[in-house]
Parts: sequence; structure tokens; C-alpha cells
Amino acid sequence: MADLEAEKALAALRAVDEVESGMLVGLGTGSTAVYAIRELGRRVARGLTITAVATSNASDALARQVGMNVLSFEDVAEVDVTIDGADEITPGLTAIKGGGGALLREKVVAAASRRVIIIVDSSKPVATLGKFKLPLEVIPFAISWVKSAVACLGVTPEVRVRNGVPFRTDQANFILDLPFESIADPQRLALALDAIPGVVEHGLFLNEIDAAVIARGSEVEVINRQT
Ligand code: A5P
Repeated sequence: MADLEAEKALAALRAVDEVESGMLVGLGTGSTAVYAIRELGRRVARGLTITAVATSNASDALARQVGMNVLSFEDVAEVDVTIDGADEITPGLTAIKGGGGALLREKVVAAASRRVIIIVDSSKPVATLGKFKLPLEVIPFAISWVKSAVACLGVTPEVRVRNGVPFRTDQANFILDLPFESIADPQRLALALDAIPGVVEHGLFLNEIDAAVIARGSEVEVINRQT
């Protein structure tokens, strides 16, 4: 049985090796990104001089706690490198993200980043996206309409619930989780979801990712985007 926590830590360590003094680093969200943030904190304590922006309030708080200089993304237009997790990733570097509900800020920071490195354990690589329910961030005003619009795409959306109430993102929006099982044409689905008013963002990352660091046991595979 794979030790997924050890794999997350190993993948994080490898990605953090790319970070150099002087860089502005994007900090991802989720249990794998936590390993990267903690490792960056250790390196900052040993003299690495970086600034950071965070993709969620939770990552922002953790980064400050471990001694990082965290900027508000409102004041930032370009990020050197972002290290983030994913819920599924393919060999072609397409991914589903948003299991932690931070997909909107994650996608914005990824778009602003010169390099995006995804760090994952051995449970995340897939041949085809969709087994993981695709998260969709929706403004509360539009939730009923978006549910019916999404149903026309052949899937029954589920409002994400936490502690018995609808989950709210850092932007106070709702998340719909879409159980497609298998997404045959992610580009086409992305276009269809982008066209629904009230949808703020979806968790399909199709062009943003430059590299994946995949840990399997004590081995690490790095896949770089072919240019
Ligand atoms: C956060 O919204 C997500 O995109 C995470 O990056 C993704 O869910 C992976 O999280 P874990 O590292 O906790 O599996």
C-alpha cells in the first residue's frame, strides 16, 4: 500500500528545489501544497529570500505562520513559479483541480505564473479526466439556474456541502461537483461551462500546467510540457 503522505512530501521537495532567492512564488492549496509551503518556510528560515502569493486564505495563513513574506495578489501581475496540487492529472498535463474549493484563485494565479508545477502522489495520475467530480464555482444568485443548465450537459450536479451547510469558497461562492465519470472532450466541456452565465470558474486546467512532479514510492517522475 502506497504511503501517499510520504509521496506528497517527496513531490513537494522536488518542486521546491526549483525555487531560487529573488523569486515571487505562487502557493497552491490542499494537503500536498501544504508540504511545499512548509518546506519553503524551512528554506526561508535558512536564508532563502522569496516573496509569495497564496491561492487561498488557508495557504496565506500557513505561509505567514512559517515565516514567509506574503503579498496580496491584488498588487501582483506576474508570478515566477507556482507550486500546487491536483485531484487528477494526465500525461498531457491536463488536470482537474478544486477538491479543496480554491480553483478560482488557483486558476488566476496559474494564469499569472511563468511556470506552474503540479505536485502529486501516485493516486492522482489518470489516463482520462473525470473520475474525480469536476468542481464548478458558481455565484449564489445563479445556483438554481446553473444547476439546470449543467444538467443539459448530461450530468446531475451536486451542491458541495460541508458540516451540513453549502460550502462557501474564499469568494463566498458555491461549488457544484459534477460526476461525469469520464470526460471524453475536456476542451469542449470547458467551452460549454465557460458559456454558462453565473459560472465563475471550472476545475479543468487544460493549458496552465508546465510540469508535473509525480511521486511513486521513493521514485519521482517529472513530466515537462512539450513546447
Ligand atoms: C484545491 O482547491 C485543489 O485544487 C487542490 O490543489 C487539489 O484538490 C489537491 O488537493 P490535495 O493535495 O489535498 O489532494
